[in-house]
Amino acid sequence: MNLFRKKSLSQLQKETQQNCGLRRNLSHWDLISLGMGAIIGAGIFILTGTGALLAGPALTLSFLIAGITCAFAALAYAEFASTIPISGSVYTYSYVTLGEFPAWIIGWDLTLEYLFAASTVSVGWSAYFQHLLEGFHLSLPTSLTAAPGVKDGSLFNLPAFIIILLITFLLSLGIKVSKHINNIMVIIKILIILLFIGIGIFYIKPTHWIPFAPFGASGIFAASAIVFFAFIGFDAVSAAAEETKHPQKDLPRGILFSLAICTLLYILVSAVVTGITHYSSLKGINHPISKVLEEAGQNWLAGFIDVGAILGMTTVLLVLLYGQIRISYAMSRDGLLPKLFSKTHAYFRTPFYATWFFGLIAGIIGGLLPLDRLAQLVNIGTLFAFTMVSLSVLILRYQRPELHRRFRCPGVPYVPLAAILCSLFLMLQLQTFTWIAFGTWILLGTIIYFRYARKKSHLHSR
Ligand code: ALA
Repeated sequence: MNLFRKKSLSQLQKETQQNCGLRRNLSHWDLISLGMGAIIGAGIFILTGTGALLAGPALTLSFLIAGITCAFAALAYAEFASTIPISGSVYTYSYVTLGEFPAWIIGWDLTLEYLFAASTVSVGWSAYFQHLLEGFHLSLPTSLTAAPGVKDGSLFNLPAFIIILLITFLLSLGIKVSKHINNIMVIIKILIILLFIGIGIFYIKPTHWIPFAPFGASGIFAASAIVFFAFIGFDAVSAAAEETKHPQKDLPRGILFSLAICTLLYILVSAVVTGITHYSSLKGINHPISKVLEEAGQNWLAGFIDVGAILGMTTVLLVLLYGQIRISYAMSRDGLLPKLFSKTHAYFRTPFYATWFFGLIAGIIGGLLPLDRLAQLVNIGTLFAFTMVSLSVLILRYQRPELHRRFRCPGVPYVPLAAILCSLFLMLQLQTFTWIAFGTWILLGTIIYFRYARKKSHLHSR
């Protein structure tokens, strides 16, 4: 039974006190901004093109479906994250409530979410960066522009690798995205998206919207499973439970509003993109938003969008890599990962080694894998995390009804059940390749657990 050995609550509270005396200073406005800062990135700026090829103009519905799935899961997430006031991940919480092995699997799976998502966004960043360079008649040698096989002669995505190294450098110095930087980025991102919609709308040819769903329901769902990536990051909101002034009221507001605003923006953007150009012309295009503007003759605006997308994706990268480091830090502190991952630098007081370790891995993955494949992997990992988290919320309500929950998910058991069903359904839409890679990842995690983590766990030595 020691697969399900649990960390005690009192121990966790002690650790929490040692590690963070977080101040409660976030309002629901801050939460909405936090969410949108982490959410809006490569998904909308890049995957809109991939999604349009799968769903046609009905991509708007795909965004809606993905957004609703996230809203269900987010409410369960918020309950999970707010029940025990510890900063960060559902990993720690599940360790206390479900036991070590489920917690390990969740932590391992979150790595698939954060680390690979950072690599994915870096590839998107690189696409817009290179497009911006083209505007100045500059270009890199083809071999360094993309992952092997993406273009004739491409071998390594150098800009993706370099941006991750730069972000790693900042994180290793202890730079976090401050509330103010985040707020500025959110404003920039929203402004350029509104500008795109506001100007693009005049170039729409409604004939492009007909037929609306050329690939039927299956196309819409398949696209939904891909563009789901565009919503990842809202868990940043639920993770801020302890820094929130009134979690019970503000968390659901923060989560649902940021998701609702993003869903609305995404639907409008996809309607405009598929209205300006025929969806089929987006094949092979890795910067769809600026590409359609160029088609409309708005080159200056396309350049503007490039800059905004690059800045916006940079903050997303910071948040994702930071999330990864925070999780590995927690796992290492519990003995499940080598000590090095929680060792802090004497001067910078950051998990310096973990930062560089994961930064380098994320950079190499970003350099070597194409965006679509990466995004699918991230999506399956995240959807699996949603399923586990929603399930855990249900189990806990049953096992520990007396626990004080700062935020209670409404509509239990229906909302968590809906989250589980929708997540499983979207997982089933992903390709066989993705399932194989995901299965391998979980298998690898299980092996590492049994060969290493179980024995090294601090609970084991106690
Ligand atoms: N949702 C984030 C993005 O689209 C991860 O970049």
